[in-house]
Amino acid sequence: MTIRYITLFFAFIFISGCAGWDTDTTGRITQKAMVVSAHPLASEVGSDILRRGGNAVDAAVAVQFALAVVYPDAGNIGGGGFLVLRQQDGSVDALDYREKAPGKARRDMYLDEQGNVVEELSFKGHLAAGVPGTVDGMVEAHERYGSMPWAELVQPAVELAAKGFPLTRKEAKKLNEQRKDFIQYNTQRPSFIIQDRWREGDNLRLAELAHTLKRIRDRGRAGFYEGETAELIVAEMQRGGGIISKADLAGYRSVWRQPLTGQVGDYRIISMPPPSSGGIALMQLLSIAEDYPLKDWGWNSAEAAHLMVEAERRVYADRARHLGDPDFYDVPVEALLDTDYIRSRMDGVSLQKATDSDAVSAGMPAPVESPNTTHYSIVDQEGNAVSVTTTLNSSFGSKVFVAGAGFLLNNEMDDFSVKPGHPNSYGLVGGEANAVAPGKRMLSSMTPTILERDGQLYMVIGSMGGSTIITTVYQIILNVTVHGMSMQGAVNAGRFHHQWRPDWILSEWGALGFGTGLEMWWRGHRIAPKNGGIGRAAGILVLPDGRLEGGADPRGDDAAAGF
Ligand code: DON
Repeated sequence: MTIRYITLFFAFIFISGCAGWDTDTTGRITQKAMVVSAHPLASEVGSDILRRGGNAVDAAVAVQFALAVVYPDAGNIGGGGFLVLRQQDGSVDALDYREKAPGKARRDMYLDEQGNVVEELSFKGHLAAGVPGTVDGMVEAHERYGSMPWAELVQPAVELAAKGFPLTRKEAKKLNEQRKDFIQYNTQRPSFIIQDRWREGDNLRLAELAHTLKRIRDRGRAGFYEGETAELIVAEMQRGGGIISKADLAGYRSVWRQPLTGQVGDYRIISMPPPSSGGIALMQLLSIAEDYPLKDWGWNSAEAAHLMVEAERRVYADRARHLGDPDFYDVPVEALLDTDYIRSRMDGVSLQKATDSDAVSAGMPAPVESPNTTHYSIVDQEGNAVSVTTTLNSSFGSKVFVAGAGFLLNNEMDDFSVKPGHPNSYGLVGGEANAVAPGKRMLSSMTPTILERDGQLYMVIGSMGGSTIITTVYQIILNVTVHGMSMQGAVNAGRFHHQWRPDWILSEWGALGFGTGLEMWWRGHRIAPKNGGIGRAAGILVLPDGRLEGGADPRGDDAAAGF
């Protein structure tokens, strides 16, 4: 009962939050080409590459390295990501440059002698880092699809790091908030720590990072996974008690995978397969939405929000049970995407009353007989599209800088299920499918996605936000395809999220509005407000006349650039 009163309280609080989700606005429009990313300088770098005749993959490589400089909380060379591509001729591809568990990783490495989870061990410090995949991913993407010389794509990042760039207000604040962790988790003082506090407009110069980027510019993969950079990473591990070895670095390879594709209504969805959970979950959610009159119910009405939450509850239960690295665990992809199976998950769901998550478990799909993240979206002048989500996991990753090399290492190991049923930092639970094993990739929620309509490119979309990435991408797609919003309006619109466990709806302030909030409570849902926003998305919509509309998220410093 107490929970009910608490949620009622929050529902009332929502009245004050009802102001301002500007969904009636239009984003930046360009004629031919566009980049939307988390930082205006990175978007400009990408747009400049496109202007010089580079294709979408060239621009993606340049944006990835630029973000590693100007957006260090998630842009990275010490992390990993996923890239989904659709070429102008309709062919598709997906690159998995997700981090891997080091060779010395063990299933119980984050447990004490009693078998209890040691808090924060998978989340902060040297043991939290997986073997980085970003540089290999960019080299692979460039080798297969790039058209401009590699060095020209890395050079803008070298210059930004060497000359420095002005901090935005949000970035200065974030760096100040991290000061304590940076001191605690580093054996040598990183350049992000200054005597004073960072202020908006301060110039941030990253000289060591500039040198590392030069090595990558001049030697490609070997500039990171071998030689001086590799030695600096291994020395950092030895000082801080980490386990990434020279052999782990030399052996890292990203993997080209078959993108997950499927038709939902008028749209063909092209998204990331495992080790991302995003593509499967998104397809399941969109397929369920197809069966209900969401448009008639209205955007964020109680009927629509209730249905979406009930679907999310079941889809995330499947995620916890069935999804992990396909190179280690037999993920029943086809069975999970079977239309009858997806429908069966909604059997018996009340359209009036919330289900208790304890009463929901993962489904048993029929066996198949045969065998602080950031997103950027790019469309080039030829109509090639790239959708990339890349991450260190949480903001500034493990907080560990590779001393002498000037970059941060990820804390992606926390995306594994460190003990069955034990929630990770996003509250996600898992089991066997996502247990730690040497060389295994940890399950991800990153959902870089491309939509086609009538065989033509329609939308490029993705987001940051940990477990909320999937529901963010889901809502934005529905906002455009069902509720008729512009790309910018759809990105601006307030969001909510349910992930089976914990059993509550996270909602941005006022996203559901007072009436819906109250009715949802009455139906038995628990609602918790989410400060600081849910997700940060970057989308591009192809308008009927062929122009491009950008959706840059007002929750950050995001910007669209193009021509
Ligand atoms: O791969 C994942 O699902 C997470 N490591 C993503 C982290 C993320 O989105 C951080 N942003 N809040």
